[in-house]
Amino acid sequence: MSIETQYDLQALKEIGKIVSLARNKMVENIREGITTKELDEIGNCVLESYGATSAPKKERNFPGYTCISINDEIAHGVPNNRSLKIGDIVNVDVSAELDGYFADTGETVVVREKSNFTNRLCDASKEALYQGIKAAYAGNKLNRIGKEIHNVAKKYGYGVIRNLTGHGIGRKLHEEPDYILNYLDIWDKRILNDGLVLAVETFLTTGAEYVIEDRDGWTLRTPDKSVGAQFEHTIIVTNGEPVILTL
Ligand code: CO
Ligand code: CO
Repeated sequence: MSIETQYDLQALKEIGKIVSLARNKMVENIREGITTKELDEIGNCVLESYGATSAPKKERNFPGYTCISINDEIAHGVPNNRSLKIGDIVNVDVSAELDGYFADTGETVVVREKSNFTNRLCDASKEALYQGIKAAYAGNKLNRIGKEIHNVAKKYGYGVIRNLTGHGIGRKLHEEPDYILNYLDIWDKRILNDGLVLAVETFLTTGAEYVIEDRDGWTLRTPDKSVGAQFEHTIIVTNGEPVILTL
């Protein structure tokens, strides 16, 4: 969607705030021994306390409230009774709806003995996200986002997952424009417009540049056990700096 009214803006800011609070609360609770189901419930508690509804559950009937993907799982990991171990790379991806508006955000951290931190791959993915977002201004080509993301990945010697992408968002979880790639597609001629709402997401990887679906019908993982790190923000394109709704 593109923002048309002040109400659109306020409603998106509200759901943006809610999903980022849920994401932060989950990340704070990532530690050795906690199960991904417990983490999922922590995230959902935050969503519910604001009256928001999990988007994957509502729109896809996903078997969880949030997606939690570990190590070679890159996206759509299903919360379960598996407990986290030191060294696991854990991605939480939270998307939700309130009053017909959606926002989507993700972060990846490494489980440590004391407090959780990132590693080089996570840091690179986060840097790529902010570089990609910088290219998201009105009048620029949409494909510049992917070009920036890929450049940062390459700078650190990483690859990008080519069959996972960012997307338009707002009145639905996924809407036009789709396929906001993590690399430059020179044939993509789309131009960004003022007010456009996007979920920009980076998928950096240490190996294979594509994911395959697990037998569970949800989890998307690399075929060669290489790990990945995803970061995601929902933003509004403007004529200048984009508004990041999920800081
Ligand atoms: Co997401
Ligand atoms: Co998304």
